[in-house]
Amino acid sequence: MTSRLMQNPLGAAMACTRLLITMTAFAITSMAAVAAEPAAAASAKHSAPLEIKRPASPQPWHRYKVDSQGSSWPQGDWNAYSTLARIATAPPNGPLHYTTPIEGDPALGRQLAFDRARGGSCVACHVFGKETPAQPGNVGPDLSSVGTRHGDDWLFNYIYDPRNLNKDTIMPPWGAHKIYSVAEIKHIVAFLKTLKEPYTFKDPQEDPATRSVPKDTRDNLDPTENPAMFGLDRGKEAFKRAGMNGKSCASCHSSPETAFKTWAARMPRYEPRLNKILGVEEFIARHARATTGGEILMQSDDNIALSIYLHNIANGAPINPDLSSAGAKQAVASGQQLMRRKIGQLNMACIDCHTRERHASKWARGQYLVEFKGTVAHFPTWRTSRGDIWDIRKRFQWCNVSVRANELPPDAKEYGDIEMALAALNKGAKINAPGMRH
Ligand code: HEC
Ligand code: HEC
Ligand code: HEC
Repeated sequence: MTSRLMQNPLGAAMACTRLLITMTAFAITSMAAVAAEPAAAASAKHSAPLEIKRPASPQPWHRYKVDSQGSSWPQGDWNAYSTLARIATAPPNGPLHYTTPIEGDPALGRQLAFDRARGGSCVACHVFGKETPAQPGNVGPDLSSVGTRHGDDWLFNYIYDPRNLNKDTIMPPWGAHKIYSVAEIKHIVAFLKTLKEPYTFKDPQEDPATRSVPKDTRDNLDPTENPAMFGLDRGKEAFKRAGMNGKSCASCHSSPETAFKTWAARMPRYEPRLNKILGVEEFIARHARATTGGEILMQSDDNIALSIYLHNIANGAPINPDLSSAGAKQAVASGQQLMRRKIGQLNMACIDCHTRERHASKWARGQYLVEFKGTVAHFPTWRTSRGDIWDIRKRFQWCNVSVRANELPPDAKEYGDIEMALAALNKGAKINAPGMRH
């Protein structure tokens, strides 16, 4: 991983000057607080010093070009479409009207329908009879005999903008969101009209209805299996390393393994000083600035390493966030709402892929869609297919970009709300970090 901090030594130095000022101020206030009520200070809930003025991640945020070992991130700008922070997408305009028959070139239509550069292609969700390319998905119905089922006008309109007929559909509005032109959709309709034969797969692993569900049997705590275990060692070192003002985490926390036994399992939490949800990684960035003077921005190597360490200490502890405050309740409600929002050029919501109410437990091309329950206890997690360790916010960012929605910076309030809603949903699941996933 490249450290963003290293790319801007001047900014970091300036930040340090300001931090020293903050630090001095903190020392004075905290001494006053201790003098006033020595007993209460130790037991006061959430009294950990935090720097609360500056962003906890690089800003303005620029999307990753590559992960640490070179796997690239899509670089499109989808500003015209909604994000988790902003509703921008126009509602559907109503069906367009065409007189049957729609003329087009079926061979060109097949090529367009199978073109992965177009939002993953139709094959991400549909089977197309004997011509189906490798590893089709089954989020949508089998189209092997769709040519016998519908009229041209209906087919055209369902592809152009299916929201006119089914407002919650996961199928993207291919025409209305300009992924295919009107002329291209006519070619696709011509291709679909040639599909008339039901199809039986010869290989059950090709058929998304019978393909076996991935099951990870690797031991995530074995360093020879999980490269993220090196992050654990790095986290232990970072805990002992002195920051700008000569203090390390260990200077104030001499037995983290006892003190933080269940801490990460109780995160994220509502933080009144920020009026938003604070996750482990943002806590590390803000608490370090206020204590050691270290600038440990979210998603930097040291931040992820410390997050692995603090999560790993809590391994086995059941996820148990404090949901009692009004702030926490409001965040859960907001997170649930945000996960229903259609975003990006592909116009998909989190719940479309991650709940059984919609399409969880089906295949989007070669990717099995997991339910939200069971998805958070193993973060930060090694991603074999990407060769990188991701914290949960980076996972959210990727799930935004993969539906062609601009992602938010890691410390965005909206991600906090979603993280809280997911923690509430996963209450009781035991922390098991660092994880390992495909
Ligand atoms: C993300 C998944 C997804 C992708 C990608 C997708 N579809 Fe669909 N499609 C669906 C779903 C789900 C349905 C079932 C109805 C609904 O929920 O809208 C559907 C329904 C259809 C139907 C109606 C079938 C019927 O008999 O009722 C057609 C036709 C269709 N899709 C064509 C396409 C074409 C052409 C493409 C590529 C340009 C495509 N789909 C890409 C998810 C998808
Ligand atoms: C100058 C002393 C000091 C240093 C240095 C320090 N902390 Fe803390 N830390 C505190 C105080 C004070 C609290 C609040 C009381 C408590 O929980 O012990 C706290 C609380 C915490 C908590 C519990 C947080 C919560 O939600 O209340 C964690 C976890 C933690 N610190 C981790 C760290 C890490 C990681 C570092 C190094 C980046 C670090 N600390 C550096 C003083 C310090
Ligand atoms: C187009 C489908 C799709 C959408 C929409 C989507 N995701 Fe995902 N998500 C995936 C896939 C595919 C994976 C990888 C599943 C796996 O690890 O097997 C994944 C993985 C995840 C994971 C980690 C699962 C694990 O166990 O490691 C989380 C958490 C997650 N998504 C959250 C979200 C959130 C929050 C949103 C909305 C902002 C969202 N996703 C939107 C497809 C989607």
